[in-house]
Amino acid sequence: MCGIIGYVGGKKASEIIYRGLKTLEYRGYDSVGVVVDTPKGMELRKGKGMVEEVSEALQFTSMDGTTGIGHTRWATHGVACKENAHPHTDCTGKIASVHNGVIENYQELKEGLKKKGHKFSSETDSEIFAHLVEDEKKAGKDTFQAFLASLKKLKGSFAIALLAEGERKIYVARKNSPLVIGLGKGESFAASDMTAMLEHTKDFVPLGEMEAAVLETGGVKFYSLEGKEIQKTPMHVDWSPDMAEKGGYAHFMLKEIYDQKHFVYESLATDVSAANALISRYKSVHITACGTSYHAALMFKYLSQKYLGKACDAIIASEYPFIASPDKDTLVIAISQSGETADTMKALEHAKAKGAKILALTNVVGSSITRVADEVVYLNSGPEVSVAATKTFTSQLAVIYKLLFPDNDFSEIPKIISDSLQKEAEIKKIAETIKGKTDVFFIGRGLSVPIAMEGALKLKEISYIHAEAYPGGELKHGPLSLITEGVPVIALAPSDETVYKMLGNIKEVRARGGFVISLNNSQEIAKESNISINLSSVDPLLHPFAMVIPLQLLAYYVSVARGINPDRPRNLAKSVTVE
Ligand code: G6P
Repeated sequence: MCGIIGYVGGKKASEIIYRGLKTLEYRGYDSVGVVVDTPKGMELRKGKGMVEEVSEALQFTSMDGTTGIGHTRWATHGVACKENAHPHTDCTGKIASVHNGVIENYQELKEGLKKKGHKFSSETDSEIFAHLVEDEKKAGKDTFQAFLASLKKLKGSFAIALLAEGERKIYVARKNSPLVIGLGKGESFAASDMTAMLEHTKDFVPLGEMEAAVLETGGVKFYSLEGKEIQKTPMHVDWSPDMAEKGGYAHFMLKEIYDQKHFVYESLATDVSAANALISRYKSVHITACGTSYHAALMFKYLSQKYLGKACDAIIASEYPFIASPDKDTLVIAISQSGETADTMKALEHAKAKGAKILALTNVVGSSITRVADEVVYLNSGPEVSVAATKTFTSQLAVIYKLLFPDNDFSEIPKIISDSLQKEAEIKKIAETIKGKTDVFFIGRGLSVPIAMEGALKLKEISYIHAEAYPGGELKHGPLSLITEGVPVIALAPSDETVYKMLGNIKEVRARGGFVISLNNSQEIAKESNISINLSSVDPLLHPFAMVIPLQLLAYYVSVARGINPDRPRNLAKSVTVE
């Protein structure tokens, strides 16, 4: 969480930082700030709200100067307000820093600094850092040595950028939070992810764990946290900036839903042979992930068990260290769009310590997860900006299908997705019937269960309507007591071996006054439903692709109908780098 961007070069820093912050806003958007080393000295502007509104009020881009840092915040310590927004400065206002992560021992450090006379103006853990550096500088160190000495005192996680007045340098470091360095001609960048720098460069160095760097106009030097210079090899990415633009759609989410018909080709073209060989070598397989990626993990488990007869376990990453016992004979597959999710990283640390082999499925080249994995498969979905994951989910599914069924022909999938996208107008109308409801239930059986869970997650996260998913058979064991007149139940009832059981569930719901919206490809189900969304008839193995698209569209249109920005749901962030 939290987005960081820094720039040093020959151009107007405030403009580059402002545009970068807008791209990074998916990482947090409760407050924002920019500091620029202007010809008149250091100037800091920050406030509560989203990037555009705060910048409009404070005129970020009117600041002159060619060195600066910016930050968009997702609150962990202290409410969203101007004081808690980053950057934070030291007592002199000549040192400024931004931070992503959690400094676990900040109280203790803060007390020590207070005793030395330092004054604080926020409730954040992050503010101590500029003061620590000030303190070390007072003791005679230069800024870089003071920066390193201050980092040594921190417990917890950090991606940090710092600048000091008049130096034309940016100091950065990371531990368990992402930071990528962008290399330009006569200019250098640092940001939480590559997309914030794509319009300026395509040459990057992801900063490694416990590494620091000093950015100057002439280039970037990399160091260990002990101050030893290290050599890094840049990588070149071919993402274009417009891949992260809305391209005429009202929201990134809608664009990304439509992107699926193109990007799924790329995902299906991914070479998975090495990963496939790895999977077949292991009897014990754990899949770990969070959120939407966890639903992909469940799909892996269901498909593997049902079609290959191979049992495996899908475990929520934040639970993994507490309940999983991997060993050297275990293959742990981590699924993470961003490759940066702290819970997933912790699960992998646990697995690695026990000697397990690690395979990562991720969308982001050079992300943290790729550095701990023994083998990586890239999703190739292009950058996903909207907080709610859509295209990366179908890419995860496509890659999983290829991993599990290497000999199958999946060329039908893009067409299935395109057919489901045709339902947009129909779904938009259905959204009107749901927008005023307080609870929505999703039911399915077999392969439809993880998709029902994904549908419920999508709806609740962006519409704020309570939504839950159950295997159809579980209704009678509890949730049926919640089904009263008009309560919507979205029934995933495609024509496969589950269809008659689902028909029974639909009847149970209708008998209690529930309002059934079904996804089906049979007359029988359509007849029993209040609203029927007809899917084209496809191989039952591929039903998940046909069903997930209408559910994404439904969540999107309910969100919009309720006046919510689906790209920026409250309290959430796309890349969750705190545990
Ligand atoms: C956050 C996002 C979700 C995402 C989850 C896992 O909670 O809001 O959309 O599914 O993180 O992210 P990952 O990058 O690991 O797939």
